[in-house]
Amino acid sequence: MRENWKGAITLSPEETIKLGESLSSKLEIGDIISINGELASGKTTFMKGVLKGLGFKGEVTSPTFTLVNEYDSIPKVIHIDCYRESDLNRWVGLGIHEYFESNSIVFIEWAELIKPLLPKELIEINFSHISENKREITLS
Ligand SMILES: Nc1ncnc2c1ncn2[C@@H]1O[C@H](COP(=O)(O)OP(=O)(O)OP(=O)(O)O)[C@@H](O)[C@H]1O
Ligand SMILES: [Mg+2]
Repeated sequence: MRENWKGAITLSPEETIKLGESLSSKLEIGDIISINGELASGKTTFMKGVLKGLGFKGEVTSPTFTLVNEYDSIPKVIHIDCYRESDLNRWVGLGIHEYFESNSIVFIEWAELIKPLLPKELIEINFSHISENKREITLS
């Protein structure tokens, strides 16, 4: 990541999308970002903003069931979710190391489940559900 980006408290989904857009301009090819947070804390909403910021026009969805979503934005974005699959060998078989080397930006939900596979230089963004419309999204 190029410069300081600290995150923010957001008061609506639209603000979370804007925050995602603000991160997108700071990302660099090869960045690997762990996105941590409970259900409905805004992770997928934030990803919509990141992809919007990178000029991607299509739909952005949760990778909960697909495990991996790939977006042909510039640079490419890979969005991985380890919640339903934490078997390290399975992830190696799915090519996780190739994703890390694929000239993309990689986001990983539930990254702690595959800790031994993660690179040392991991950017971590934490999402907290504060109240109905309030989320705290911070870089750790
Ligand atoms: N400030 C906010 N930021 C983001 N989402 C918000 C905010 N306020 C309310 N919401 C609502 O909270 C929900 C967030 O859902 P989202 O799918 O982004 O969460 P998630 O962290 O990806 O959840 P999951 O772990 O289930 O995939 C949406 O229904 C959204 O409309
Ligand atoms: Mg989600």
